[in-house]
Amino acid sequence: MYTLNSTKGYHVGQLNTLGWELTVCNALHPAGTPLRKILTRDDSFGHLLYDYLVRFVPMEKIARVIEVGGGYGYLMKDFLERNSTLEPCMLDISPFLLDKQKKALGEHNVSYREEDFLETDPAFLEGFDLVVLNENLGDFPTLVGLNEGLLRSSSGIADPILRSALHFFTRYDLEKPEGVFNLNIGALQAIERLCAAGIPYIYLGEHSCEAAVHEPLRPLICIESTGNPGRIALKGHDEYTIKFSYLESIARAFRYRSVRGPFADFIAFDMTESIKSILATRGREGDEAEMVCQFIEDLFQYEYMIMIKD
Ligand SMILES: C[S@@+](CC[C@H](N)C(=O)[O-])C[C@H]1O[C@@H](n2cnc3c(N)ncnc32)[C@H](O)[C@@H]1O
Repeated sequence: MYTLNSTKGYHVGQLNTLGWELTVCNALHPAGTPLRKILTRDDSFGHLLYDYLVRFVPMEKIARVIEVGGGYGYLMKDFLERNSTLEPCMLDISPFLLDKQKKALGEHNVSYREEDFLETDPAFLEGFDLVVLNENLGDFPTLVGLNEGLLRSSSGIADPILRSALHFFTRYDLEKPEGVFNLNIGALQAIERLCAAGIPYIYLGEHSCEAAVHEPLRPLICIESTGNPGRIALKGHDEYTIKFSYLESIARAFRYRSVRGPFADFIAFDMTESIKSILATRGREGDEAEMVCQFIEDLFQYEYMIMIKD
């Protein structure tokens, strides 16, 4: 039988730091942090992302933006530094992190909502111009240990969770993997509800199970890409990597165009001789080298997707 991985209890009742799961955004905070030294442009995650988004999104026309799972609030602080006319809403399941966001964004006109995004009233989402979900889809519920037999519709499925899984395979024509597999059911539900609300621009970024490194970097950068959402064991909870191709299929069905790639597309670094040596030895030369190697691998292991309503 399958199991349902949920991080809700952890996020609502236990989380009191993001220190154990250093996100790419937090790894580039604050200014002067060592990892920024390897970047082509020494800047924060939010600024680098904003400056990349303007290629696809008319950011100067965006007013109402909702960030789901904004962590410490750094990304939105950076967005507001670029564009003070934004009217952000921060929605988070964690009371601890909402409090952090209120402190980080105190001087701005921001609204807050303490809620599990999967329980948000779909009507509330209408009218937003842009939604941002950075490094949180992997926290949403995942079905672990599924197989084709469990999803055979001819046998009549009584279990509502399995019925919901089957809905995604049939409605969006997703290819069912062979053997035992995991399904990011919460991420699929989240993208479906955002598309159904017709939000014109959607940005998401997360640890991918379909990541790829392009030539000529392939021999230097080691990443995992199994195509099956994989477990990441973290303090007090597990999260799962994301199968982006399924999210793309949902976007297509709702007539969204999508742009997808590794975080390295907007967080550029210089491939100096010293970085090549760090990557070739997989960071074994010392603590700082290990940190740099891990960070560069993350820039390829994490993917983003920008969805644009046609
Ligand atoms: C790993 S942190 C990422 C924080 C930040 N976006 C970053 O990139 O540094 C995940 C965030 O998602 C939030 N989160 C997790 N599950 C959620 C849910 N079901 N609804 C709303 N927020 C959720 C967490 O509380 C946290 O703020």
